Amino acid sequence: MSFKKNKKLIFIATLCLAMVAAQTFAQKEHDHDHNEKAKNLKVLPKDMSMEEIHDVMKGFSKSLGVRCGYCHVAHEVEGQRPKMDFAADDKPEKEVARDMMKMVEGINTKYLSKMKMDDHALTQITCVTCHNGKAKPITSVDSLMKM
Ligand code: HEC
Ligand code: HEC
Repeated sequence: MSFKKNKKLIFIATLCLAMVAAQTFAQKEHDHDHNEKAKNLKVLPKDMSMEEIHDVMKGFSKSLGVRCGYCHVAHEVEGQRPKMDFAADDKPEKEVARDMMKMVEGINTKYLSKMKMDDHALTQITCVTCHNGKAKPITSVDSLMKM
């Protein structure tokens, strides 16, 4: 084997090792996220990963046009960013959100999935169906008259 070819092989081998190392590291970071379990789930499945929970939460925030602190308590820390306590149930908005989750689930499973139009079941609803980017959706036809 020529020296040049040998050098190329070593180069490729090193690259592969580096890639394996990078992957192992990424895996570790990932595992860490997964091991961090939610402490106070009452509606969502208890085995939901933090990653999945965060996706759901981003959906809530976008649907209502709010930040996380709308439903979760933030403790002020001098000179630092407020520390969020996601497991705490102090804010009434969090409890309302739980009831809303159950309502959405009920509407979807008890009613919409059983309603048929021609050959397809009706679309499922989500928070955004009513909230449309607002914390308080329009609940009276009067608000439409003012538009
Ligand atoms: C509209 C209200 C609402 C908003 C906005 C919201 N959450 Fe939540 N969050 C909830 C509710 C309700 C639960 C509890 C769900 C349950 O009981 O199954 C929860 C649970 C959580 C949990 C699990 C806590 C634990 O240990 O039990 C985390 C983490 C979390 N939220 C993060 C976030 C983040 C990050 C944001 C912003 C991107 C956010 N939430 C925005 C309502 C909200
Ligand atoms: C069928 C329509 C509908 C759906 C779907 C819906 N909501 Fe609501 N939501 C309402 C109405 C109506 C109110 C009361 C608004 C008011 O007080 O003016 C409300 C109020 C709330 C509030 C309290 C807001 C406040 O500041 O008082 C929260 C939090 C909330 N909804 C979260 C959610 C979440 C999270 C979802 C999805 C899991 C959801 N909602 C799905 C209709 C809906």
